[in-house]
Amino acid sequence: MKNNIFILNKINGEIINQLVNIYFSAFSKFYFRNWSFQDFIDLINNGYSIFYSIDNHKVIGFAVVSFNKDFSEIITIAVESNYQRKNIGRNLLNYIMSSAEFEGNFILDVAIINTVAIKFYEKFGFKKIGKRHSYYLISEGDNLGHKIDAVVMQLRLY
Ligand SMILES: CC(C)(COP(=O)(O)OP(=O)(O)OC[C@H]1O[C@@H](n2cnc3c(N)ncnc32)[C@H](O)[C@@H]1OP(=O)(O)O)[C@@H](O)C(=O)NCCC(=O)NCCS
Repeated sequence: MKNNIFILNKINGEIINQLVNIYFSAFSKFYFRNWSFQDFIDLINNGYSIFYSIDNHKVIGFAVVSFNKDFSEIITIAVESNYQRKNIGRNLLNYIMSSAEFEGNFILDVAIINTVAIKFYEKFGFKKIGKRHSYYLISEGDNLGHKIDAVVMQLRLY
């Protein structure tokens, strides 16, 4: 699917409200804590880069990245559930990897139960390099209070 990608470098309530909804749509099945409007403001104020994808005037996916000299970090990537498996995530990641700030290495954490995301990252050449025990907290539902391990994945292009 063709889509347009933009960078959110200043506070824009209309866009941030859509990012909050996409986060919920993409992650609610895991019962982690949802990201709030304030969480996005804090990310912007702390220098994280937010890329978002628009289709027909509507935000349909986004990624939060921390660019660093050694390893840039993908904090998260989320595609609205009705738009998944239509190359939105792939286009976002390709766009980020072609940006001037990306120096060739990525690192990220992903919940061990999130097999779709692990496959997604593997498709780009990310490798599993480690595990973080009890990294994600379940904040709702029957397993409230349980913790889930994370897989650490890395991509080295150079
Ligand atoms: C992970 C996520 C961002 C992928 O984005 P997407 O736009 O749906 O994925 P794409 O269409 O770009 O897929 C790219 C490749 O990823 C893999 N992939 C994506 N979805 C997959 C699925 N449901 N099952 C298996 N592989 C999948 C495939 O290899 C796919 O390539 P292919 O379609 O040519 O086989 C999206 O599924 C999502 O928002 N998930 C919920 C939130 C999340 O888990 N985020 C990552 C945690 S950090």
